[in-house]
Amino acid sequence: DDARAAEGSAFTFDELEAGIDDKHHVAPGYDADVLLRWGDPLFADSPEFDPIRQSAQAQARQFGYNNDYVGYIAIDGSAEHGLLVVNHEYTNPHLMFPGIVKIVEKDGKKSAEVAPLSKEQVDVEMAAHGGTIVEIRKDGGKWQVVRDGKLNRRITSNTEMALSGPVAGHDRVKTNADPSGTKVFGTINNCAGGVTPWGTYVMAEENIHGYFSGELPEGHKEAANYKRLGIPEGAYEWGAHYDRFNLAKEPNEPNRFGWIVEVDVNDPNSVPLKRTAMGRFKHEGAESIVAKDGRVVFYLGDDERFDYVYKFVTKGMFNAGDRAANKDLLDDGTLHVAKFAEDGSVEWMPIVFGQGPLTAENGFAGQADVLIETRRAADLLGATKMDRPEDIQPNAGNGKVYVMLTNNSKRKADQVDAANPRAGNAFGHIIEIVEDGGDFAATKGKWEVLLKCGDPAVADVGATFSTATTAHGWFGMPDNCAIDSAGRLWVATDGQGPKATGRTDGLWAVDTEGSARATSKLFFRVPIGAEMCGPLFAPDDQTAFVAVQHPGDGGEDWDAFGRPSYYEDPSTRWPDFKPDMPVRPAVVAITKQGGGKIAV
Ligand code: FEO
Ligand code: CA
Ligand code: CA
Ligand code: CA
Repeated sequence: DDARAAEGSAFTFDELEAGIDDKHHVAPGYDADVLLRWGDPLFADSPEFDPIRQSAQAQARQFGYNNDYVGYIAIDGSAEHGLLVVNHEYTNPHLMFPGIVKIVEKDGKKSAEVAPLSKEQVDVEMAAHGGTIVEIRKDGGKWQVVRDGKLNRRITSNTEMALSGPVAGHDRVKTNADPSGTKVFGTINNCAGGVTPWGTYVMAEENIHGYFSGELPEGHKEAANYKRLGIPEGAYEWGAHYDRFNLAKEPNEPNRFGWIVEVDVNDPNSVPLKRTAMGRFKHEGAESIVAKDGRVVFYLGDDERFDYVYKFVTKGMFNAGDRAANKDLLDDGTLHVAKFAEDGSVEWMPIVFGQGPLTAENGFAGQADVLIETRRAADLLGATKMDRPEDIQPNAGNGKVYVMLTNNSKRKADQVDAANPRAGNAFGHIIEIVEDGGDFAATKGKWEVLLKCGDPAVADVGATFSTATTAHGWFGMPDNCAIDSAGRLWVATDGQGPKATGRTDGLWAVDTEGSARATSKLFFRVPIGAEMCGPLFAPDDQTAFVAVQHPGDGGEDWDAFGRPSYYEDPSTRWPDFKPDMPVRPAVVAITKQGGGKIAV
């Protein structure tokens, strides 16, 4: 359809139509095959998924819940044989466990009540969190899971990990169970992440506040620290069964979460390391790039309304010839936070004890304190308060960096600034940064807004998609993104739906260069209730991996189909569509029919 091909666009595929239904859809000419679903066996001894008889033991040997970040680590440099690394961000008990939701009718209005979970169900939740490392291979043009791959691994909320870097062993991370302040069990709420240039898997701990319950002892010194992170929220029932999630019993435990976790995938028994030098906040992701001088730069978002954009620059240089030489690069470096000025410049301010306001007078005794309270340090430095920074992706091809800012309904008219230009920002925006001298390690750069999102047909929204963007091509709530090997930007969304936009979340291709800049086209969309995570391109660009998270979850749209969102009567039964099978989050592999690159 020529009418849809924007002049100068880097994308030639025929656009998919936006909409809402119970299935996934991809643009014409492509296959979108489900590769890995919640409960799929990963090891030779894994039990088959049985939704009625779930156990923590089985779950720990199966693919976890709510797949978010997806990364690929090649085996022997292959684009058709590698390790897929996948974060399992959180759990939806109302969609996982049969019989725990009761529909109650009050004053003619129906609502869903979820029963308290049993300890066994809490244990299943804990085993369904974390990450999966699994060998995959492309055979006859289709990807297969290698069920007994020798590097296959499940990481859960109970996997032994170590704190490393400046905070390791500090008094503020010591607990009754761990007087050393170095040994932590598990990782939680791993949203986006990254794969390092040396082939390790990094997992970002995001919304950690929900897992803690109970009250701190009166007058406890961590009260202000925890308040800044919204701890405790008590959304999960783990604290009822495990002391470490109960603030009254283990008041320091939350300081052991909110970090970036690095996993050596080449040894399935390696102890994952919480890299404290990279700061503690609601980490969204950790995408990286090697700077001109060999230092490695990680871009880090803190996903909260009015929080910040960070980057970490290693002190040491990347050694491409010796993988082991990069082993502890993430323990030493400088964390920076961004100040976006009205004149279009950006300054990356170092977060270093003793510099500027980061002193004893402000309650910091050293770098460990500064890192444990990264947000407060950034507050004192005067960083720019952003509209929920999500995935941030550097692009080696054009030297630019793309920052997804998903939305901020709470920004008032007197709080707008050039980098967050809309009050009540319902649909989010994307900022493009050009670092000075094309050097990703630079402490200064220039920035501009690439795109204000939302429906361009509604004038009040103020969206800035190009006029070549069709009614299907616009989107809101940018969350995850990827750059393909041709340097093109792909954006996945979180939060569309019947009420917000009248369409589901999906994956859009966005032009960033030339006359087609800010033109967007829909490529893939998720079933109702889901959000779009991943996305990731295989090194040969012949596969796009996408992660469909929480399909069938109603949230605010729980009655969108006039049906509640719960186990027995979900709005979709994706991806199995069997009456005895619940909805299952899953990773989907998209390939072009007949082969070739996804987009040419
Ligand atoms: Fe887990 Fe910021 O999305
Ligand atoms: Ca996210
Ligand atoms: Ca990404
Ligand atoms: Ca999300």
